[in-house]
Amino acid sequence: MAVTLRQIGPCFAAEVEGLDLTRPLSHEAVAAVHAGMDRYAVLVFHDQKLDDEQQLAFTRSLGDIEHAIGTSLRAPDEYRLPTTFADVSNLDKHNQVFAREDRRRLFGIGNRLWHSDSSFKPVPAKYSLLHARSIPSRGGNTEFADMRAAYDALDEETKAAVEGLICEHSQIFSRQQLGFTDFTDEERERFRPVRQCLVRTHPVTGRKSLYLSSHAGGIVGWPVPEARAFLRDLVEHATQREFVYKHQWRVGDLVMWDNRQTMHRARPFPAHEPRDMRRTTLAGDGPTAAQVAA
Ligand SMILES: [Fe+2]
Repeated sequence: MAVTLRQIGPCFAAEVEGLDLTRPLSHEAVAAVHAGMDRYAVLVFHDQKLDDEQQLAFTRSLGDIEHAIGTSLRAPDEYRLPTTFADVSNLDKHNQVFAREDRRRLFGIGNRLWHSDSSFKPVPAKYSLLHARSIPSRGGNTEFADMRAAYDALDEETKAAVEGLICEHSQIFSRQQLGFTDFTDEERERFRPVRQCLVRTHPVTGRKSLYLSSHAGGIVGWPVPEARAFLRDLVEHATQREFVYKHQWRVGDLVMWDNRQTMHRARPFPAHEPRDMRRTTLAGDGPTAAQVAA
């Protein structure tokens, strides 16, 4: 069966038909997926009944996996999933829903802010692949924003202003926006800021995009309030309705997005209902900016 892509919503998202992700992909199919990602940046695969091994195998067929180690407030002995997965569920290792006040849950609420996955790592993520195993009765959509279209729509003065700027990203900055500040000294050290370019150029298409994220809390060489106001204006611009695709989940959906070209955010859902979403992540090619020596 031929692989077909059908555009949905705005021009940067497409549904993929003709692929069974439980089975190994041909070279042609892998090439078609990459080409689809280069063109659209968000791909939706419906009705994929994947287990963990099948999700890992599909992810590995596209590139190197980024491990999720020390990126949340779960202690190593509290992991529900192996580190080949980012556990973006609201479940503890016994598959029980976190209590409303649990700080691991409150930290996870940071995913409701617009962000790009792992922008707080020196080598940020390339693709994220999120598979819906169980979903809440309502809410819990994921929204995506096209950072290429957002860049293209900037006026010339702003394009000149953002060129060459370097931002500082940390999960401490994103949680600060929500009033979550009770980090331990160990967590502050683990979440120390990294540097990222504000404008990225896609290695295949050559298109420029804004590399924004709620984790960005400063611009190198700028006073903090001025930097945060500037970044806030850019996020507001980049997440206007015409740049956004809203994905309403069905069990079995796998949605893959390019973190270099998009931002996303989760939407709220009833706190007592399980939402088991499992994310595998493809590692980026390298840092976007030189880091400060530790
Ligand atoms: Fe995310």
